[in-house]
Amino acid sequence: MLKITDLRAEIDGKEILKGLNLEVNAGEVHAIMGPNGAGKSTLGYVLGGRPGYDATGGSVRFDGQDLLELEPHERAAAGLFLGFQYPVEIPGISNLQFVREALNSQRRARGEAPLSGGEFLKLARAQAEALGMDVEMLKRPVNVGFSGGEKKRNEMVQMGIIGPRLAILDETDSGLDIDALKAVGEGINRIMRAPDKAVLLITHYQRLLDYVQPDFVHVLADGRIVRSGGPELALELEREGYGAVAA
Ligand SMILES: Nc1ncnc2c1ncn2[C@@H]1O[C@H](COP(=O)(O)OP(=O)(O)OP(=O)(O)O)[C@@H](O)[C@H]1O
Ligand SMILES: [Mg+2]
Repeated sequence: MLKITDLRAEIDGKEILKGLNLEVNAGEVHAIMGPNGAGKSTLGYVLGGRPGYDATGGSVRFDGQDLLELEPHERAAAGLFLGFQYPVEIPGISNLQFVREALNSQRRARGEAPLSGGEFLKLARAQAEALGMDVEMLKRPVNVGFSGGEKKRNEMVQMGIIGPRLAILDETDSGLDIDALKAVGEGINRIMRAPDKAVLLITHYQRLLDYVQPDFVHVLADGRIVRSGGPELALELEREGYGAVAA
Protein backbone atom coordinates (compact mmCIF):
# COMPACT_ATOMS: atom_id res chain seq x y z
CA MET A 1 0.00 0.00 0.00
CA LEU A 2 2.77 2.44 1.01
CA LYS A 3 6.36 2.10 -0.13
CA ILE A 4 8.87 4.69 1.03
CA THR A 5 12.28 4.44 -0.57
CA ASP A 6 15.34 6.42 0.48
CA LEU A 7 13.17 9.40 1.48
CA ARG A 8 15.04 12.62 2.21
CA ALA A 9 13.64 15.92 3.44
CA GLU A 10 15.12 19.22 4.50
CA ILE A 11 13.65 21.96 6.65
CA ASP A 12 15.25 25.37 6.25
CA GLY A 13 18.25 23.77 4.55
CA LYS A 14 18.82 21.20 7.29
CA GLU A 15 18.39 17.55 6.38
CA ILE A 16 15.88 15.92 8.74
CA LEU A 17 14.96 12.72 6.88
CA LYS A 18 18.13 11.05 5.72
CA GLY A 19 17.24 8.13 3.53
CA LEU A 20 14.21 6.54 5.15
CA ASN A 21 12.85 3.20 3.95
CA LEU A 22 9.53 1.73 5.01
CA GLU A 23 6.96 -0.56 3.46
CA VAL A 24 3.42 -0.90 4.77
CA ASN A 25 0.99 -3.46 3.38
CA ALA A 26 -2.78 -3.43 3.60
CA GLY A 27 -4.04 -4.91 6.85
CA GLU A 28 -0.95 -3.93 8.85
CA VAL A 29 -0.35 -1.65 11.81
CA HIS A 30 3.17 -0.26 12.08
CA ALA A 31 4.34 1.56 15.20
CA ILE A 32 7.05 4.16 14.81
CA MET A 33 8.97 5.03 17.93
CA GLY A 34 12.10 7.06 18.38
CA PRO A 35 13.78 9.86 20.32
CA ASN A 36 12.50 13.44 20.37
CA GLY A 37 13.60 15.31 17.28
CA ALA A 38 14.28 12.13 15.26
CA GLY A 39 11.98 13.18 12.42
CA LYS A 40 8.77 11.26 13.17
CA SER A 41 6.40 14.21 12.81
CA THR A 42 8.40 15.41 9.83
CA LEU A 43 7.75 12.06 8.16
CA GLY A 44 4.02 12.51 8.77
CA TYR A 45 4.08 16.03 7.35
CA VAL A 46 6.08 15.04 4.27
CA LEU A 47 3.63 12.19 3.59
CA GLY A 48 0.64 14.46 4.20
CA GLY A 49 2.09 17.20 2.00
CA ARG A 50 2.34 20.01 4.54
CA PRO A 51 3.80 23.13 2.87
CA GLY A 52 7.45 23.63 3.80
CA TYR A 53 8.00 19.90 4.26
CA ASP A 54 9.00 18.87 0.77
CA ALA A 55 10.94 15.75 -0.05
CA THR A 56 14.39 16.43 -1.48
CA GLY A 57 15.05 12.86 -2.55
CA GLY A 58 13.68 9.36 -2.71
CA SER A 59 10.20 8.19 -3.56
CA VAL A 60 6.87 7.35 -1.96
CA ARG A 61 4.37 5.10 -3.70
CA PHE A 62 0.82 4.93 -2.36
CA ASP A 63 -1.26 2.26 -4.06
CA GLY A 64 1.08 2.47 -7.01
CA GLN A 65 0.76 6.27 -7.36
CA ASP A 66 3.60 8.72 -6.81
CA LEU A 67 2.35 10.25 -3.56
CA LEU A 68 4.81 13.14 -3.59
CA GLU A 69 3.39 14.35 -6.91
CA LEU A 70 -0.09 14.77 -5.44
CA GLU A 71 -1.48 17.91 -3.79
CA PRO A 72 -2.47 17.50 -0.13
CA HIS A 73 -6.20 17.35 -0.98
CA GLU A 74 -5.49 14.72 -3.64
CA ARG A 75 -3.62 12.65 -1.05
CA ALA A 76 -6.65 12.89 1.23
CA ALA A 77 -8.99 11.88 -1.58
CA ALA A 78 -6.70 8.93 -2.28
CA GLY A 79 -7.35 7.79 1.29
CA LEU A 80 -4.56 9.29 3.39
CA PHE A 81 -5.36 10.71 6.83
CA LEU A 82 -2.93 12.52 9.11
CA GLY A 83 -3.70 12.84 12.81
CA PHE A 84 -1.67 15.73 14.20
CA GLN A 85 0.59 15.68 17.24
CA TYR A 86 -0.78 19.15 17.96
CA PRO A 87 -4.27 19.43 16.43
CA VAL A 88 -4.92 22.95 15.17
CA GLU A 89 -7.76 25.18 16.30
CA ILE A 90 -9.89 26.62 13.50
CA PRO A 91 -12.10 29.44 14.80
CA GLY A 92 -15.21 30.34 12.84
CA ILE A 93 -15.97 26.91 11.40
CA SER A 94 -17.80 24.21 13.28
CA ASN A 95 -16.54 20.68 13.51
CA LEU A 96 -19.60 19.55 11.57
CA GLN A 97 -19.08 22.01 8.71
CA PHE A 98 -15.37 21.26 8.57
CA VAL A 99 -15.58 17.48 8.44
CA ARG A 100 -18.59 17.50 6.13
CA GLU A 101 -16.73 19.67 3.64
CA ALA A 102 -13.62 17.48 3.96
CA LEU A 103 -15.58 14.28 3.45
CA ASN A 104 -17.72 15.53 0.59
CA SER A 105 -14.84 17.10 -1.31
CA GLN A 106 -13.02 13.78 -1.05
CA ARG A 107 -16.11 11.92 -2.22
CA ARG A 108 -16.54 14.26 -5.17
CA ALA A 109 -12.87 13.81 -6.11
CA ARG A 110 -13.45 10.04 -6.17
CA GLY A 111 -16.59 10.40 -8.28
CA GLU A 112 -18.91 9.51 -5.37
CA ALA A 113 -22.07 11.43 -4.52
CA PRO A 114 -21.72 13.82 -1.57
CA LEU A 115 -23.66 12.95 1.59
CA SER A 116 -26.77 14.99 2.31
CA GLY A 117 -26.98 17.01 5.52
CA GLY A 118 -29.12 14.35 7.14
CA GLU A 119 -26.93 11.45 6.09
CA PHE A 120 -23.84 13.27 7.26
CA LEU A 121 -25.33 14.16 10.64
CA LYS A 122 -26.28 10.54 11.25
CA LEU A 123 -22.74 9.40 10.47
CA ALA A 124 -21.16 12.13 12.58
CA ARG A 125 -23.37 11.39 15.58
CA ALA A 126 -22.63 7.67 15.37
CA GLN A 127 -18.88 8.30 15.28
CA ALA A 128 -18.97 10.80 18.15
CA GLU A 129 -21.00 8.38 20.25
CA ALA A 130 -18.69 5.47 19.42
CA LEU A 131 -15.76 7.51 20.69
CA GLY A 132 -17.58 8.78 23.75
CA MET A 133 -17.49 12.39 22.59
CA ASP A 134 -20.39 14.64 23.50
CA VAL A 135 -22.34 15.23 20.29
CA GLU A 136 -22.68 18.91 21.24
CA MET A 137 -18.93 19.27 20.69
CA LEU A 138 -19.50 18.67 16.99
CA LYS A 139 -21.21 22.06 16.83
CA ARG A 140 -18.30 23.95 18.36
CA PRO A 141 -15.56 25.56 16.26
CA VAL A 142 -12.87 23.01 15.38
CA ASN A 143 -10.78 22.31 18.49
CA VAL A 144 -11.25 25.85 19.84
CA GLY A 145 -11.05 25.69 23.61
CA PHE A 146 -10.93 21.88 23.55
CA SER A 147 -8.71 20.31 26.18
CA GLY A 148 -5.63 18.44 24.96
CA GLY A 149 -7.36 15.09 25.31
CA GLU A 150 -10.58 16.35 23.70
CA LYS A 151 -8.61 17.44 20.64
CA LYS A 152 -7.10 13.99 20.30
CA ARG A 153 -10.47 12.31 20.68
CA ASN A 154 -11.92 14.72 18.14
CA GLU A 155 -9.25 13.68 15.65
CA MET A 156 -10.44 10.11 15.99
CA VAL A 157 -14.06 11.19 15.44
CA GLN A 158 -12.92 12.96 12.26
CA MET A 159 -11.06 9.83 11.20
CA GLY A 160 -14.16 7.71 11.83
CA ILE A 161 -16.30 10.01 9.70
CA ILE A 162 -13.81 10.25 6.86
CA GLY A 163 -12.90 6.55 6.80
CA PRO A 164 -9.37 6.71 5.35
CA ARG A 165 -7.40 3.75 3.97
CA LEU A 166 -4.10 4.78 5.50
CA ALA A 167 -3.94 6.69 8.78
CA ILE A 168 -0.77 8.28 10.09
CA LEU A 169 -1.41 9.02 13.74
CA ASP A 170 1.15 11.25 15.41
CA GLU A 171 1.16 10.72 19.17
CA THR A 172 -2.58 10.28 19.27
CA ASP A 173 -2.12 8.89 22.78
CA SER A 174 -0.44 11.97 24.23
CA GLY A 175 -2.47 13.84 26.82
CA LEU A 176 -5.20 11.22 27.09
CA ASP A 177 -6.57 10.14 30.43
CA ILE A 178 -6.77 6.42 31.12
CA ASP A 179 -10.35 5.99 29.91
CA ALA A 180 -9.75 8.17 26.84
CA LEU A 181 -6.68 6.11 25.94
CA LYS A 182 -8.84 3.00 25.93
CA ALA A 183 -11.59 4.70 23.90
CA VAL A 184 -9.08 6.00 21.36
CA GLY A 185 -7.30 2.63 21.14
CA GLU A 186 -10.59 0.84 20.57
CA GLY A 187 -11.58 3.53 18.06
CA ILE A 188 -8.41 2.97 16.05
CA ASN A 189 -9.07 -0.76 15.99
CA ARG A 190 -12.72 -0.32 15.02
CA ILE A 191 -12.07 2.24 12.29
CA MET A 192 -8.76 1.06 10.87
CA ARG A 193 -8.27 -2.66 11.58
CA ALA A 194 -9.43 -4.05 8.25
CA PRO A 195 -7.80 -6.07 5.48
CA ASP A 196 -7.79 -3.09 3.10
CA LYS A 197 -6.55 -0.46 5.58
CA ALA A 198 -3.30 0.29 7.34
CA VAL A 199 -2.00 2.46 10.18
CA LEU A 200 1.28 4.18 10.97
CA LEU A 201 1.18 4.78 14.68
CA ILE A 202 3.76 7.25 15.96
CA THR A 203 4.07 6.86 19.70
CA HIS A 204 6.51 7.08 22.60
CA TYR A 205 4.91 4.51 24.83
CA GLN A 206 3.77 0.92 24.99
CA ARG A 207 0.46 1.91 26.62
CA LEU A 208 -1.32 2.62 23.29
CA LEU A 209 0.18 -0.54 21.82
CA ASP A 210 -1.53 -2.54 24.57
CA TYR A 211 -4.80 -1.61 22.84
CA VAL A 212 -3.69 -1.36 19.22
CA GLN A 213 -1.33 -4.24 18.70
CA PRO A 214 1.22 -3.45 16.03
CA ASP A 215 2.38 -6.01 13.49
CA PHE A 216 5.72 -4.21 13.20
CA VAL A 217 7.63 -1.76 15.38
CA HIS A 218 10.29 0.54 13.94
CA VAL A 219 12.81 2.81 15.57
CA LEU A 220 13.27 6.11 13.77
CA ALA A 221 16.47 7.82 14.87
CA ASP A 222 18.31 10.68 13.18
CA GLY A 223 16.12 10.62 10.09
CA ARG A 224 16.23 6.91 9.32
CA ILE A 225 14.61 3.66 10.38
CA VAL A 226 17.47 2.11 12.32
CA ARG A 227 15.75 -0.98 13.60
CA SER A 228 12.57 -2.93 12.91
CA GLY A 229 10.96 -5.83 14.70
CA GLY A 230 7.72 -7.22 16.06
CA PRO A 231 5.68 -6.04 19.04
CA GLU A 232 8.43 -7.24 21.39
CA LEU A 233 10.69 -4.43 20.17
CA ALA A 234 8.45 -1.83 21.84
CA LEU A 235 8.75 -3.68 25.14
CA GLU A 236 12.50 -3.89 24.74
CA LEU A 237 12.67 -0.15 24.09
CA GLU A 238 10.59 0.61 27.15
CA ARG A 239 12.90 -1.54 29.23
CA GLU A 240 16.22 -0.43 27.84
CA GLY A 241 15.71 2.96 26.19
CA TYR A 242 17.00 4.04 22.80
CA GLY A 243 20.65 4.16 23.77
CA ALA A 244 21.02 0.41 23.69
CA VAL A 245 18.62 -0.31 20.84
CA ALA A 246 19.24 2.42 18.29
CA ALA A 247 22.96 2.90 18.71
N1 LIG B 1 9.44 24.07 11.01
C1 LIG B 1 10.63 23.71 11.48
N2 LIG B 1 11.66 24.62 11.56
C2 LIG B 1 12.87 24.25 12.03
N3 LIG B 1 13.17 23.01 12.45
C3 LIG B 1 12.22 22.10 12.38
C4 LIG B 1 10.91 22.39 11.91
N4 LIG B 1 10.17 21.27 11.96
C5 LIG B 1 10.98 20.32 12.47
N5 LIG B 1 12.21 20.81 12.71
C6 LIG B 1 13.34 20.08 13.30
O1 LIG B 1 13.38 18.80 12.72
C7 LIG B 1 13.75 17.82 13.69
C8 LIG B 1 12.73 16.71 13.69
O2 LIG B 1 11.50 17.19 14.22
P1 LIG B 1 10.22 16.29 14.37
O3 LIG B 1 9.12 17.15 14.85
O4 LIG B 1 10.00 15.54 13.10
O5 LIG B 1 10.69 15.26 15.49
P2 LIG B 1 9.87 14.11 16.21
O6 LIG B 1 10.62 12.83 15.95
O7 LIG B 1 8.45 14.15 15.82
O8 LIG B 1 10.05 14.48 17.75
P3 LIG B 1 9.02 14.37 19.00
O9 LIG B 1 9.15 12.98 19.51
O10 LIG B 1 9.56 15.35 19.98
O11 LIG B 1 7.64 14.73 18.52
C9 LIG B 1 13.90 18.56 15.02
O12 LIG B 1 15.24 18.81 15.25
C10 LIG B 1 13.12 19.84 14.77
O13 LIG B 1 13.64 20.91 15.54
MG1 LIG C 1 6.73 14.62 16.77
